[in-house]
Amino acid sequence: MTLNRQSIHGEWSSRWAFVLAATGAAVGLGNIWKFPYIAGENGGGAFVIIYLICILVIGIPLMMAEIMLGRRGRQNPAATMASVAEESGASRHWGLVGGLGILAGFLILSYYSVIAGWALNYVFKAAAGDFTNASAQQIGALFSNLVASPWQLLFWHSIIMLTTMLVVARGVRQGLEKTIVFMFPIMLILLVILVAYSMSSGYFEQGLAFLFHPKFAQLSPEGTLDALGHAFFTLSLATGSIMMYGAYLPKNASITRASVAIAAADTGIALIAGLAIFPIVFANGLQPGAGPGLIFQTLPIAFGHMPMGRMFATFFFMMLVFAAFTSTLSLLEPSVAWCIERFHMSRVRATVIISSLIWLLGIGTVLSFNVWKNVHLFGMDVFDFMDYLTANIMLPLGGLLIVIFTAWFMRQEAKLDELQIKKGFIYYKWRLTMRYVAPVAILIVFLKFLGIF
Ligand code: TRP
Repeated sequence: MTLNRQSIHGEWSSRWAFVLAATGAAVGLGNIWKFPYIAGENGGGAFVIIYLICILVIGIPLMMAEIMLGRRGRQNPAATMASVAEESGASRHWGLVGGLGILAGFLILSYYSVIAGWALNYVFKAAAGDFTNASAQQIGALFSNLVASPWQLLFWHSIIMLTTMLVVARGVRQGLEKTIVFMFPIMLILLVILVAYSMSSGYFEQGLAFLFHPKFAQLSPEGTLDALGHAFFTLSLATGSIMMYGAYLPKNASITRASVAIAAADTGIALIAGLAIFPIVFANGLQPGAGPGLIFQTLPIAFGHMPMGRMFATFFFMMLVFAAFTSTLSLLEPSVAWCIERFHMSRVRATVIISSLIWLLGIGTVLSFNVWKNVHLFGMDVFDFMDYLTANIMLPLGGLLIVIFTAWFMRQEAKLDELQIKKGFIYYKWRLTMRYVAPVAILIVFLKFLGIF
């Protein structure tokens, strides 16, 4: 038995620290930047409903599974899956699924950092008063000038990677936990201030209708896959981020309650972000389907015309940077832990090596907005391709495999022991979902997308 295994990287100081860290990992650009723009591209309501269903029937059960696996294995996701499999009499090759996740996190961070860099740049733009009384064209030009400049993007991407590296190099308690406990509450306060403002803008109802009034006819199979992929992305699932954080979880915490709390907070914040953003979009006659530039090209127009807009805009982008930063930490940690364990190197060294590689890969995304604008992989530019490959393919696939492993291969006693629940209603419901509902749902979305179903 491997019950009293300890992680060599340490542990969170309490379960609250874990819940905060995991919520910080979950809440990020995915909620505030990506959710509104893909909801906008896919017509709103129907997309939002599919996304909510995915969170409920796939996201929460999978989150429980990942935390449980992590705490059982107490190692990097690849080693964790291999050893939990071994313990259950299954093949150690399940470790490859953990490996796929680590790779996905590595790839995601390479472009995530570039977008977080936009947000950081916008903190300075906002504070300098660049949006004040600016027209839509001027705001549009600010954004296009930024993304047209490879050197600027590289600079901000480098700052994000460098700071992420500095924190992760300090380790779980001194680095990750301290930073998250400081940043997360500030982010939350800033968000509340902004929603209060948005609710008073007068277009709140239009925003509400856009997000919750479903028009299923407008939702394509691709939109459905977007919604599924985004459910994984926004909860930080299937890359080992959550599994890794679970490995640092003290033994006594309730996994079920933590999972529900994290998912609820994450979903709540995405919807709040949507409700803060779309009223401003409609109040100014802007386009909800503007793509990745949505919040950068639309919100500053509104900020530029509101009383104390300079301050609010600065707050908004600061909030975005903090939210993104608690996520970049979670994206880097699994690769670093893997590197430390696999090659027996020091944390500092592993962090520097992995961060440099991710930084280098991120240059692909940097260039995709300018010099390589016309370089296409499968009909997508480098950024779109990386996003698509990870969020729409690697995450659902990795998630499916983790679900199958946990439901069908992991020994029941190990699961009950780790979840610390009785063989009762909650357990059977979870088991039923993991065995049938979640895998079938993922398969249907995939097959529908491939046109087979
Ligand atoms: N969930 C974060 C967001 O919404 C991003 C993120 C952090 C992530 N860790 C992850 C996405 C792991 C996928 C997998 O912004």
